[in-house]
Amino acid sequence: AAIKKYQFDIQVTNVSRLCHAKPIVTVNGRFPGPTIYVREGDRVLINVTNHVLYNMSIHWHGLKQFRNGWVDGPAYITQCPIQTGSSYTYDFNVTGQRGTLWWHAHILWLRATVYGAIVIMPKPGTPFPFPQPAREFEILLGEWWNNDVEEIENQGNKMGLPPNMSDAHSINGKPGPLFPCSEKHTFAMEVEQGKTYLLRIINAALNDELFFAIAGHSLTVVEVDAVYTKPFTTPAILIAPGQTTNVLVQANQVAGRYFMATKAFMDAPIPVDNKTATAILQYKGIPNTVLPVLPQLPASNDTRFALSYNKKLRSLNSAQYPANVPLKVDRNLFYTIGLGQNSCPTCLNGTQLVASLNNVSFVMPQTALLQAHYFNIKGVFRTDFPDRPPTPFNFTGAPLTANLATSTGTRVSKIAFNSTVELVLQDTNLLSVESHPFHLHGYNFFVVGTGVGNFDPAKDPAKYNLVDPIERNTVGVPTGGWTAIRFRADNPGVWFMHCHLEVHTGWGLKTAFVVENGPGQDQSVLPPPKDLPTC
Ligand code: C2O
Repeated sequence: AAIKKYQFDIQVTNVSRLCHAKPIVTVNGRFPGPTIYVREGDRVLINVTNHVLYNMSIHWHGLKQFRNGWVDGPAYITQCPIQTGSSYTYDFNVTGQRGTLWWHAHILWLRATVYGAIVIMPKPGTPFPFPQPAREFEILLGEWWNNDVEEIENQGNKMGLPPNMSDAHSINGKPGPLFPCSEKHTFAMEVEQGKTYLLRIINAALNDELFFAIAGHSLTVVEVDAVYTKPFTTPAILIAPGQTTNVLVQANQVAGRYFMATKAFMDAPIPVDNKTATAILQYKGIPNTVLPVLPQLPASNDTRFALSYNKKLRSLNSAQYPANVPLKVDRNLFYTIGLGQNSCPTCLNGTQLVASLNNVSFVMPQTALLQAHYFNIKGVFRTDFPDRPPTPFNFTGAPLTANLATSTGTRVSKIAFNSTVELVLQDTNLLSVESHPFHLHGYNFFVVGTGVGNFDPAKDPAKYNLVDPIERNTVGVPTGGWTAIRFRADNPGVWFMHCHLEVHTGWGLKTAFVVENGPGQDQSVLPPPKDLPTC
């Protein structure tokens, strides 16, 4: 194992896209930010120095940070933010994980421009459980706004309305040649006839689930969220914000130039799709003058594709990489996901949009929850988050607009160390149904079941896959449907759980688990690092 050191200087950088130039927040002036490249077993030290006027905090999305929530990153959950002019060193070991993950700012909407890839190579001498690729490419999917993203976020909050949508999607920070002024803002990857390539695809978009495809080339999925899968071949992938997907691509077509493209998967059909980003796959020796071919992507509201794609995802579950699915459950949780409206005297219509779990819209604390938990500071949070909805109703029936008021509070669930947890996430039609990518910090979980309509506790558990369900850290709860996940609570600390659509996170679609310490010496939260920021 090695020690890998990185310096992240948070700074303001001028960038232009779609004929608009603006200052954005970057790491080391780069957009997207630098790739963290490590091996399983390495120790990583990333010193983050904040030179901008915003507070900053960085999350290493998908790294479990065993007993070490101090380096997890969500602001006011596991740490106070790094203030202007200050530094903090994220010091952690990468243990028992290999694959593609990513890092991003975890405060305000700053992750719109502050994000990058994490590539964890397997231990030396351990091959991938699939054909060795000739080369690897990181493909970061994102969104671009012509206007200042923080202004858009604040504007939405002030008015109590949804903030403006982005102006384009991007591939490695570039929208591609279908947009004005974008000829030179186009990512291209060169391939050689007959060779196989590994694409490490990351959805870093703020608010859009995305389809991704390459014209003429099928994709073989081999890993998601840094967990190996049973390989399967598909014309396109679906990837939610927070998720990663590794695919193999064979350069086995007529040598030429092919577009790869990404566009949003929406619940409702979008009138005009004017955000599709493209990049180029180019065979060696083919001149740039050859016009590329566009791929066929599923329709933006192709729910059938989404459901069938997600069904194909299975853990590899081999002798070397077994799926240790908890078979018995100690704690059953059932959380409804709801959108609502609370009164807001200063907002445009006197109301603001809120989002809730079990009718609780989460309020961010002033002190980080992990500090409050570790040092036993009273009054920061309550541990009475409800295990199930206070008033059951027909979750996915007609909209219940009469009953939209949502309770607010910093309420979390306490979980016994090493207990096995099942959590059913149920979308509801309080205001409207919508799909939600849910992310749990500190853990991977198994997606044991999913369905449309209301979860039926009498019938649905019998249909669970407890053999090779996909293991991941972010799962899409289908529109007007449910998803059941299981995990063993063996990582003590405070772990955030939230919708990875930034607009919903801001409205309160989040909570946390406080996983208690175990009895053993190595089963409790580690002491905090000396340079941990204070609030
Ligand atoms: Cu990638 Cu709490 O997020």
